[in-house]
Amino acid sequence: MSQNSKLSNYKKQRYFNICVIGAGYVGLVAAACFAKLGNRVICVDNDKKKIEQLKKVKVPNFEPGLEKLVKEAVRKKKLSFIHSIAKGVKDSQIIFIAVGTPPKESGEADLTALEHVARKIAEHLDSYKLIVEKSTVPVQTGLRLKESIRRYAKRCREFDIASNPEFLREGRAIDDFLKPDRVVIGVESDKAEKILQALYKPLGAPVLVTDINTAELIKHASNSFLATKISFINAISLICERAKADVSKVAEGVGMDKRIGREFLKAGIGYGGSCFPKDVLAFIQIAKKVGVDFKLLEEAKNINLYQRRHFVEKIKEELWILKNKTIAVLGVSFKPDTDDIRQAPALDIIKMLKKENANVKVYDPEAASKAKKVLGGVSFCNNVYDALYKADCLALCTEWSQFSNLDFRKIKKLMRYPFVADGRNFFDREKLQRLGFRYLGIGR
Ligand code: UDX
Repeated sequence: MSQNSKLSNYKKQRYFNICVIGAGYVGLVAAACFAKLGNRVICVDNDKKKIEQLKKVKVPNFEPGLEKLVKEAVRKKKLSFIHSIAKGVKDSQIIFIAVGTPPKESGEADLTALEHVARKIAEHLDSYKLIVEKSTVPVQTGLRLKESIRRYAKRCREFDIASNPEFLREGRAIDDFLKPDRVVIGVESDKAEKILQALYKPLGAPVLVTDINTAELIKHASNSFLATKISFINAISLICERAKADVSKVAEGVGMDKRIGREFLKAGIGYGGSCFPKDVLAFIQIAKKVGVDFKLLEEAKNINLYQRRHFVEKIKEELWILKNKTIAVLGVSFKPDTDDIRQAPALDIIKMLKKENANVKVYDPEAASKAKKVLGGVSFCNNVYDALYKADCLALCTEWSQFSNLDFRKIKKLMRYPFVADGRNFFDREKLQRLGFRYLGIGR
């Protein structure tokens, strides 16, 4: 068969045999969604316990719709879970690498797991495979991946590398996967491009094709831009506080300009989660490595951390002495609709309050059991009203929608001092003030 007719075959192919290595958050969502599109997917993880659980369709993380999707795909025999990379590689045309790239102490991404997987894939390479990076990796990782697979491949050296970053938000990952703003594919051969174009065709989303380095960079640049946007409005919020202006209205006015947009302009105690803090740190290190001092990003990170301290300072300014005062923290997850507490601003805030010897009571509808494992000397409550009993301050850290229906008349009676520190500008300030609360938001 000529090269051209082989390529047009890929173009026509609708379904692929896919192996996703890494059944973490990104890998599992990708595996389930590829299976939903009709592909046959094998999901591999070296954590035997996790694979056993997944075989019983027990999904380890709280992500709306994921368990249902996994269940359906397993039932239709489109998705299976195994422990062996060898079988996964052998049975697939496309291999997605979605293993963790956690930060080292310096902020640089630790690529140990990725390199290990590359060697394993190389060992079992027996025919042409398209090997795709899905994990968030520093620019030029694709090059190293290629070198490494070449070096360790035994029987076959026919493969392509591609980069296909994910842009999934926790809590909306399935929608973000199936209805993306864009699909980015970084490739260095026509064959790799055709395969990935065909794979993503059913989504009908705009596809941006680039070289591998550029695709890798798009991921870090996107997350860093969004994080900087949040820090920008948080810096404005400090000016608003001193100049007696309202940051919510400033954000509204600024965001009405289509070139800027309204999203990610909510001032508050800053960003957390498993992506923004890690990716910002990693991007600072990546820039350093290529000889660029990315001061803007360094500052975005500093502003983000300052917002947490500033929130505690505001509470302290109001209550004067925090020792033996009771602060009810509402929400510990890094954002609503998730039980994820990784890099959650609330954790730092609670630690700072504890350092001042305040009594901290916490309520979170989903994240309490995770938070209990990392926070000592804090009492966890079963509901908002228990947390607020005899409290001197209600400190809102995560804007769970259920907090929009609180009975503030009842709360006023329960609290020792009716004071609301609103870390997400979530509550109706005028209403609270009318009811006799002392209200402090961010930048208003
Ligand atoms: C993010 C990116 O949005 C996603 O594209 C990427 O793939 C992974 O990282 P996620 O971490 O799930 O997703 O959360 P996101 O909804 O983006 O929020 C991140 C943090 O920013 C949260 O702590 C949130 O509270 C905070 N945030 C968001 C603000 O403080 N203000 C805003 O205006 C928006």
